[in-house]
Amino acid sequence: MISPTSLRGSKITGTGRYCPPRVLTNEDLEKMVDTSDEWILTRTGIRERRIADRGQACSDLALEASMAALHSAGVGASELDAIIVGTVTGDMVFPATACLIQERLGAKKAAGFDVSAACCGFVYGVSNGHALIASGQMDKVLIVGVDILSKIVDWKDRATCVLFGDGAGAVVLEACSAGEGILGTYMKSDGSLADLLQVPSGGSRDPASPETCARGGHYLKMKGDGVFKYAVRAMEDAVKQVLDRANLTIDDVDLIIPHQANIRILDAVHKRLGVSADRVVVNIDRYGNTSSGTIPIALDEVVRNGRLKKGDVVLMVTFGGGLTWGSLLFRYN
Ligand SMILES: CC(C)(COP(=O)(O)OP(=O)(O)OC[C@H]1O[C@@H](n2cnc3c(N)ncnc32)[C@H](O)[C@@H]1OP(=O)(O)O)[C@@H](O)C(=O)NCCC(=O)NCCS
Repeated sequence: MISPTSLRGSKITGTGRYCPPRVLTNEDLEKMVDTSDEWILTRTGIRERRIADRGQACSDLALEASMAALHSAGVGASELDAIIVGTVTGDMVFPATACLIQERLGAKKAAGFDVSAACCGFVYGVSNGHALIASGQMDKVLIVGVDILSKIVDWKDRATCVLFGDGAGAVVLEACSAGEGILGTYMKSDGSLADLLQVPSGGSRDPASPETCARGGHYLKMKGDGVFKYAVRAMEDAVKQVLDRANLTIDDVDLIIPHQANIRILDAVHKRLGVSADRVVVNIDRYGNTSSGTIPIALDEVVRNGRLKKGDVVLMVTFGGGLTWGSLLFRYN
């Protein structure tokens, strides 16, 4: 039985992922731009990434991940109260990709909306889903993190095109007693750093036109060194804030699932936190940076390969364009 509103919490009851089968290796990239496997591997930790087909859109990847998550939770689509999709590469400017998935899943009673927080989309989405459940407004929410950055990177720009990949992960969040499941959430942003990572054209500031296309305004632009610097600080802040909120310390955390942007960022963060590498989940070598997809994909992997045990305390921590950053603590059960 679900507790009264003041004592409600939410917990993850199912996970799923889908990454397109097409693999693009560093050796493949050597034939496309002036780069090398050695440069990419030592600077980023990436060996290969998955790339969506021309005809595949975000909702196609998200649908597969969602069905896997619903199946593992034993929840029918018709039971969902909401679908929240973290993405910045939705099928269209609008409607929300969440609405497109709702239709394809047959989630008749669900509300659907997207969260635009770049690589933080999934963590922000779960935080929102948790708030909707904890406040008593909803009981079952599906959250998806999905991006197809391969469609917005400039494949002639070696500084960005080697970093990203495509993929989707999803979780089902259900009501439970407070204190079980999600133990704390934290979301933060700093819009003064918006120019570090952005797609400048195609919105209302610089609408799409033949001229914006000609100058590549619809491609992702990044100041990599600036992002790197703030990423380490932001992730450290996010870890400290969420631990404080939950009244826990880093020693209480069994597994850290960080956003997979660069192995050097992950190394810097876990060294600053004083955490051994075996408590940090890393799969960037196989997927690259899938933006909102990285954390739920990694979560589904550790659930299915048994690395995550019942009762484990898990810390998710992320950062992305905006800049945005955030974190989430939960006990897996
Ligand atoms: C992008 C990033 C890997 C670059 O690493 P770096 O060590 O800072 O490398 P630099 O940008 O200083 O570039 C060093 C040199 O490598 C070159 N270079 C850039 N990309 C290259 C590539 N793919 N292959 C080979 N050389 C490359 C640069 O042109 C530069 O050459 P120069 O010294 O002759 O000018 C790093 O800054 C990073 O990961 N930043 C964070 C990005 C991120 O996380 N984004 C997602 C946020 S969610």
